[in-house]
Amino acid sequence: MRSTRALPLAITATLALTACGGSALSGDGGDGGGDDSTVTVGLLVPKSGVYAPLGEDMEAGFDLYLEENDGQLGGKDVEVKVVDEGGGPDDGVPAGTKLAQDDSIDAVVGIVNSAVALGLTDAFAEAKKPLIIANAGADAITGDGASEYVWRTSFANGEIGAAMGEHVAENVDGEVYLVGPDYAAGEEFLAGFKETFEGAGGEIAGTQMTPFGTTTNFQPYLQKVRNADPAAVFAFYAGSEAVTFVKQYDSLGLHENVPFYATGFLTEGGALDAQGKAAEGIFTSLHYSSALDNEKNQSFVKAYDEATNEVPTVYSVQAYDAAAALDQALETGTSGDEIVEGLQGVEEIDSPRGPWSFTDNQGPDQTYYLRKVADQDGAWTNVIEGELTQPSS
Ligand code: PHB
Repeated sequence: MRSTRALPLAITATLALTACGGSALSGDGGDGGGDDSTVTVGLLVPKSGVYAPLGEDMEAGFDLYLEENDGQLGGKDVEVKVVDEGGGPDDGVPAGTKLAQDDSIDAVVGIVNSAVALGLTDAFAEAKKPLIIANAGADAITGDGASEYVWRTSFANGEIGAAMGEHVAENVDGEVYLVGPDYAAGEEFLAGFKETFEGAGGEIAGTQMTPFGTTTNFQPYLQKVRNADPAAVFAFYAGSEAVTFVKQYDSLGLHENVPFYATGFLTEGGALDAQGKAAEGIFTSLHYSSALDNEKNQSFVKAYDEATNEVPTVYSVQAYDAAAALDQALETGTSGDEIVEGLQGVEEIDSPRGPWSFTDNQGPDQTYYLRKVADQDGAWTNVIEGELTQPSS
């Protein structure tokens, strides 16, 4: 199955900085003065905390796009500065604010955690610097009144929960228990699910929010789930929390008895490898699976495997697509306003998730799939079962 990640691709001059303490490097600054033939992109991804593996996938996806495009975006040579988002807003917001204010950085890509993204949008709007969020799904970021400097190649949290609600209401006979981490993303995924699930006649058995980033023993929460005797569970967890939760769900005997539905992050990439059989049969909603049967995805999976020895994840794709969006946008110029003008004109992105375009809300218009974990040719895989009803975005 998967092996450890290969060395970073040679083509990008990737610098690992911990808290953006580095001096100004090359790049012409965010205002378009100086040398327009090189751009510097800040890649803000977690290198620590429960979401660190997600950051690795994003970096690999961004690197792969550059490798496939001679290290250039919009015809300009690219320098990448990798900055640690850390485990949450206490680390991520100061690190991102420095990037927003650093004149040597032309644009920033990344951010896994919704609470970090929510804490940074104003800094980017004030600095007039483009931020392309390649994961964090906080609903407010691309909703009404969003800044024209803040774009997203991932999803809005509510959409992914909402995509699953009607399906569960129609396929589960009885009440459903909701579980997730107690921060913006957990709350929004569960709220999105609840809205469409109840709208389709479903009933909630109970809700448990678990302390984010510090819970390693989910058993007291799972015991409450068991005591409620629900007909099914719906959850959001990602990264190392997803591994622990699924394993403990299994070891408490819930796996055999209580059907498990979730957002697709629960069973992505390294998390699914670590969960193994404990994840068998889990149903999830997501806008990507490495098993998607389209030509672009097949060549992407092959190239990603050659570069990293791993199967790509939704995080890899979102960062790959952020590079594709910047590639088009940088044709217009390298100042913040020129990049934004370029982003406004971005045409359909030929993505491994299937072709998509930006909506007026500056996020993707995309399809959500129902996936089921199954053993396919000896590898645990998120097999595509069909498309889910599109939530209104
Ligand atoms: C988020 O905080 O928005 C978030 C984090 C991890 C995920 C998805 C969303 O896998």
